[in-house]
Amino acid sequence: MNKKIPSRKRAPKKAQPNNRHKRKRHHFIAAWVRSPMGMGALLPSSRRLAKAMVAEIDTDKSGAIIELGAGTGVMTHALLEAGIPPERLLVIERDPKLHATLVTQFPDLTVLCEDAVNLQELLTTHKITKVCAILSSIPFLTIPKPVGKAIQEQMARVIDKDGLVVQFTYGIKSPISKKQLESCGMYAKRTKMVMTNVPPAHVWVFRKI
Ligand SMILES: C[S@@+](CC[C@H](N)C(=O)[O-])C[C@H]1O[C@@H](n2cnc3c(N)ncnc32)[C@H](O)[C@@H]1O
Repeated sequence: MNKKIPSRKRAPKKAQPNNRHKRKRHHFIAAWVRSPMGMGALLPSSRRLAKAMVAEIDTDKSGAIIELGAGTGVMTHALLEAGIPPERLLVIERDPKLHATLVTQFPDLTVLCEDAVNLQELLTTHKITKVCAILSSIPFLTIPKPVGKAIQEQMARVIDKDGLVVQFTYGIKSPISKKQLESCGMYAKRTKMVMTNVPPAHVWVFRKI
């Protein structure tokens, strides 16, 4: 009797979530080597932090949602998972290599390889006149102070009167100083602490006075 010899061929390997996670970490660390201060952290944000940030956004409000410093796309993924339509999102990342991986990951999104310091100009170019939320991972504690201030001033100028800025920080204090908040006409509220993020992170929300 002819016995069927089991095939030794293995099914092609699917990209496992774990591999994806490792690849993201690799991209992040490589970007950190290129610019430690520009990255502001040694590891990507956790999914729990991303969910906590996105939960601050009222997705029923009209207007665009802008992500600044998208890095490996953890927050971008959480924004899409929350049901935000791709056409409402504009994603900005300065690092060209991270930008390239974002474009591959999110082919339906507008992902710009730009500096957030040009925020207002970029919104004008993309004909965005109403912004209901900005979700920012910009590491304000490590980037040059004048650059940080210029970004913060523009964030305050472009958000709608009842819009908000969501930002995380590893510090205990607000990542936007009291003086700067006053001059931008905003107020701050710390809303959450995500202990499981490495390192633990605080979520802050900024609104117009
Ligand atoms: C803390 S890391 C990214 C965090 C991201 N949530 C993640 O987990 O991958 C900060 C990101 O902001 C980007 N970034 C820093 N300064 C920027 C700027 N001025 N304009 C745009 N992106 C900037 C960095 O390249 C980096 O990808």
